[in-house]
Amino acid sequence: MQQYNFDEIVNRRGTSCAKVDMLRKLYGKEDLLPLWVADMDFRTPDFIVEALKKRCDHAIFGYTFADDAYYESIGNWLHYKYGWDTRREWITYIPGIVKGIAFAVKCFTQPGDKVIIQPPVYHPFRIVPENLHREVVYNPLQLVNGRYEMDFAQLEALIDDKCKMLILCSPHNPGGVVWSKETLIRLADLCARHGILVLSDEIHAEMAYSGNRHHPFSTVSDAAASCSITFMAPSKTFNIAGIVASYAIVPDDTLRHKFYSYLHAIELSDGTIFAYIATTAAYTYGAEWLQQMREYVIDNVHFVEEYLARHIPQIKPYPPQASFLLWLDCKELGLSQKDLVDLFVNKAGLALNDGSMFGPGGEGYMRLNVGCPRSVLEEAMNNLGNAVKQL
Ligand SMILES: Cc1ncc(COP(=O)(O)O)c(C=O)c1O
Repeated sequence: MQQYNFDEIVNRRGTSCAKVDMLRKLYGKEDLLPLWVADMDFRTPDFIVEALKKRCDHAIFGYTFADDAYYESIGNWLHYKYGWDTRREWITYIPGIVKGIAFAVKCFTQPGDKVIIQPPVYHPFRIVPENLHREVVYNPLQLVNGRYEMDFAQLEALIDDKCKMLILCSPHNPGGVVWSKETLIRLADLCARHGILVLSDEIHAEMAYSGNRHHPFSTVSDAAASCSITFMAPSKTFNIAGIVASYAIVPDDTLRHKFYSYLHAIELSDGTIFAYIATTAAYTYGAEWLQQMREYVIDNVHFVEEYLARHIPQIKPYPPQASFLLWLDCKELGLSQKDLVDLFVNKAGLALNDGSMFGPGGEGYMRLNVGCPRSVLEEAMNNLGNAVKQL
């Protein structure tokens, strides 16, 4: 069995890499450890790189289409990972999940309609509908005994005739919550009863840690399948976000017909050569790499948890069940959000995501990306420890 090396430092500077080359623009300086956007610093695995190189060697990049191997690789992967038996016609390429959400918002809602989101949550869930002149309404997650839960009573009270859509993050970013089947069934019942379409963004599904089973929303009940569109992608897991290889799955005939006719009409369901090749390679050869990468990431999470508990107990990481993102509760430091960001950026030299960007419930938090070599995290934690001592 090949042992992959996740300790390797790959210099990404000067590759138009958003995580590194946009530091000055976003944080005002370049000499920061980049631990923000959900993009890992691990080399994309060879089986993907080799598949892309092989196609490059052919040296003609004409019009292309999604071939059988592409659909079969997705179908096999969904069966292997989640026991989900899909049909080929349920699946379509989309040029990014965020764009997929935007298309669905346009296709299924009108300006002035309400879209429900569950903050603190991935910020484009708010930004996209607002930019499209939909009203975003909040069903904030509740912390119960230190764990995020959905607030069904508040959701039921919130819903009115204008509510047409709920955008679900499953697993949840930034908390890394893997929602239980019972929670998803309850959400599906409620949304189906009120005619609310659920967009289930499952981009972090493949990163559910062992012992935390991810349930694709559509599979939890007939109600869920009848009222939802699922979005998935190999892009986070295999570190190929720049290739833009997302896809949608819609089992319900009526929803699918409407959504896919819309995508087709505006020519948005055609992917690029490299998206098809990378997806097929990832899902055909990626199981072992994914297993090893996830174990490395979990060890990174444990490293940070232990470091913080020992040296900076005022910062408490939310215990993740998925993803390479760690949600740090920094409220005990007693700083304003501005001073908290200043501590990380200017005093510790670290570029994390400011928790307040994820909406209500994100104040006092910072989001740390641990998808990087351990040595980078060691340096980051030491910098943070020294900066907190100076407070
Ligand atoms: C929950 C979630 N959805 C979607 C995306 C981005 O997906 P895409 O690049 O396919 O638009 C991210 C990236 O961080 C994410 O965390």
